[in-house]
Amino acid sequence: MELYYMNLAFDLAEKGRGKVNPNPMVGAVIVKNNKIIGQGYHEQYGKNHAEINALNSAKEDVEGATMYVTLEPCYHYGKTPPCVEKIIENKIEKVIIASLDPNPLVSGNGIKKLRNAGIYVEVGLLDEKNKKLNEVFMKYIVKKKPFVVMKSAMSLDGKIATYSGESKWISSEKSRKQVHKLRNEFMGILVGVNTVIKDDPELTCRLENCTNPIRIIVDSTLRIPLNSKVVKESNKAKTIIVTTEKADKYSIKNLESNGVKVIIAKSKDNRVDLDNMMKKLGKLKIDSILLEGGSSLNFSALEQNIVDKIQVYIAPKIIGGQNSKTPIGGKGIDLLQDAFKVKDITLKTIGEDILIEGYFEGREKVNCLQA
Ligand SMILES: NC(=O)c1ccc[n+]([C@@H]2O[C@H](COP(=O)([O-])OP(=O)(O)OC[C@H]3O[C@@H](n4cnc5c(N)ncnc54)[C@H](OP(=O)(O)O)[C@@H]3O)[C@@H](O)[C@H]2O)c1
Ligand SMILES: [Zn+2]
Repeated sequence: MELYYMNLAFDLAEKGRGKVNPNPMVGAVIVKNNKIIGQGYHEQYGKNHAEINALNSAKEDVEGATMYVTLEPCYHYGKTPPCVEKIIENKIEKVIIASLDPNPLVSGNGIKKLRNAGIYVEVGLLDEKNKKLNEVFMKYIVKKKPFVVMKSAMSLDGKIATYSGESKWISSEKSRKQVHKLRNEFMGILVGVNTVIKDDPELTCRLENCTNPIRIIVDSTLRIPLNSKVVKESNKAKTIIVTTEKADKYSIKNLESNGVKVIIAKSKDNRVDLDNMMKKLGKLKIDSILLEGGSSLNFSALEQNIVDKIQVYIAPKIIGGQNSKTPIGGKGIDLLQDAFKVKDITLKTIGEDILIEGYFEGREKVNCLQA
């Protein structure tokens, strides 16, 4: 039953996806005499935490009940008062927690406070499930840098366009819908300036009721055309252009007068230093980024080790052509032993396409405290 209740708390947590960033998704279930008497989840950034929503939903007295919650209850004043105090006040008898708060500054303190108040606390039930569900939060809260997913769509022979450059569309409508769902969940979407120059994309989410990600373009010298959609249509979504000291002040002013935010990052090999950019984006509370190319930026992103996860949609067709583009360009690597290795692979079919997902072996390690 314990697993059943905790899984239910996870189902609730999941409902907050795309709405709580940069907070974690959290769910809570209150059980008394083998009956669920309250449930809730963190519904929106800045709003009530899951524990409070679960307590508020209870129709009968929660005294003596057990609370199942997917993350350690908070003990400090943030945007809302601490949940630990409310749990103690409401005389909950047991609290079963999936994971400790990953933030080393607060981790374990919520539990300590509950135990000091005489509440029985257990930690670790479905801990790994929470680390996966909240992979974005787990990185962001510890490293203060966004979690980055590199996404591409290619043919069975690894091409993202024909030799003449036609690329719309390689993957099926079902796969593309899934990508738009991701655009709704991620806070930022990142592309290189050549992609803007060549394709003039909108980089918005085209599903109903969805939140557009912040459009982030790397552009070392501000070559971006002022009439490109990401600049002109700043009413559709926010746009940030990341440049270097080489950008001239006049171009910066021009972009800013179009409602675009311009950030100056350090430069590396005469281009934007991507790790420095990530630190700056983290400071703007951007916790997650979908990297959608092009191929030069993709290679630099791997070289500079800013990518956590890869998602490749493979469509069952062959394109061929020596000069047809592949998802990752740049210089490439010389020796196979230097390949960027991917682990924890999963495979899914989406309509007629295959989706391969995995994590980069060399990505920045996040040492979450063990529950
Ligand atoms: N099928 C797909 O899924 C898909 C998705 C996206 C793009 N594309 C295609 O990809 C093509 C564009 O790709 P691309 O490889 O030519 O260019 P890109 O990756 O879109 O842009 C590269 C440019 O970004 C700037 N940049 C700034 N900092 C950088 C850094 N650290 N590393 C790399 N670049 C940096 C550089 O210009 P500066 O030196 O001037 O800053 C560089 O030339 C387009 O034709 C587009 O259609 C396809
Ligand atoms: Zn809380």
